Amino acid sequence: MSIEDLESVALAMVAPGKGIIAIDESTNTIKKRFEAVGIENTEENRRAYRELLLTTPNLSEHISGAILYDETIRQSTKDGVPFTQIMKKHGIIPGIKVDKGTVPLAGFPGDVVTEGLDGLRERLAEYVKLGAQFAKWRAVINISEDNPSSTAIEANTHALARYAALCQEAGLVPMVEPEVIMDGDHSIEVSYEVHEAVLRSLFNALYEQNVLLEGTILKVSMVIPGKDADEQASVEEVAEATVRVLKTTVPATLPGIVFLSGGQTDEQSTAHLNAMNRMGPHPWPLSFSYGRAMQQAALKLWSKDMKAQYADAQKVVHARAKDNGLAALGQWKG
Ligand code: 13P
Repeated sequence: MSIEDLESVALAMVAPGKGIIAIDESTNTIKKRFEAVGIENTEENRRAYRELLLTTPNLSEHISGAILYDETIRQSTKDGVPFTQIMKKHGIIPGIKVDKGTVPLAGFPGDVVTEGLDGLRERLAEYVKLGAQFAKWRAVINISEDNPSSTAIEANTHALARYAALCQEAGLVPMVEPEVIMDGDHSIEVSYEVHEAVLRSLFNALYEQNVLLEGTILKVSMVIPGKDADEQASVEEVAEATVRVLKTTVPATLPGIVFLSGGQTDEQSTAHLNAMNRMGPHPWPLSFSYGRAMQQAALKLWSKDMKAQYADAQKVVHARAKDNGLAALGQWKG
C-alpha cells in the first residue's frame, strides 16, 4: 500500500463529524464489563453484543471505524455475514487491536510495558487478509509519586514506534495509543507534565523508526486531574490543557488525533471534546475513539432484556455517536 493509500484511510478515520467506536475489549476486559451488568461472558454473548453495536442503524453517520478484538474480527452476524463485510458495506472501516496487553516493567515497580511485538509481522499480514485497514496498540502510563520512570516512557514509546513501522509495512494505518491513566490523586499540572514527556518521547521514537506521520493516527488521553485529586478541573481547564500539550508536542502533519474516554462519564467525555473543538481551528481534527463512553449506557439497557431491549440499545449507541460526532465539530449543545 502506498503512503497515499495510508493517508486516505487515516483521513477517512477522522472525517469531519465522525469518530471511532472502540469495541476491542479483550475477553478478560469484556468479562468485567459484562459482570458489572450481570451478563454471562460466553462467546455467543460477546458475538451477539458486538453484532448489536456494529449493526446499529445509520451508525456511519457519525462513526468512521470500529476497533475489533482478535476473536471479533473472525466472527459473523447471526445470519453468517462476517463482521468485516457488514462493516465495509455500511462504510465503517475495520480496525484491529494488536497488542497483547501489559506486564510489569522489571526493575521499575508500578510501571508497565505493553507486549506483542514477537510475531507481529505475521499477525498483521493475517489481519489484512481478514479485512483490517488500521490497527491499534495501547501503551499504559501510570502516575504516582514514583511513576512513570523515564525508562518506562522510553520502553513504551519504542514499542509503539516499532509496532507503527510494522503496520505501515503491512499496509495498515497505525493508531498509536499512549494512555496516561486517570487513577491517583495527582493534579492537572502533573498530568500535563507526564503527557508532555510521553508525547515528546513518542514522536521522537516514531521519527527514529521512519514512521510516516501522514499515515498515522494518535489516540491519546486527556489532560485531567487524578480521579482522587482534591481539586478537580473545569471542562474549559481540561480542554485548554489538552490542546496546549498537543500543540507543543504533535507535528501538524499528523492527519488526526482521537481521544479515549479512560473512565470519564459519558457527559464529561463529550463535553471535553466539544470544548476543545470550540477552541479551534487546530492543526489536526480532534475526534473520539471511545470505548466505555460509547457503550456503557447501551450495555446497561441491553442487559435488562437482550431481546426486548435490542433496538432501544442500538438507539442509545446511535445517540452517543451523534453527540460525540457533534462534539468533534464543536457543535454539541449539551
Ligand atoms: P475507553 O474509551 O473505555 O477508555 O477505551 C478506549 C480504548 O480503546 C482504550 O484502549
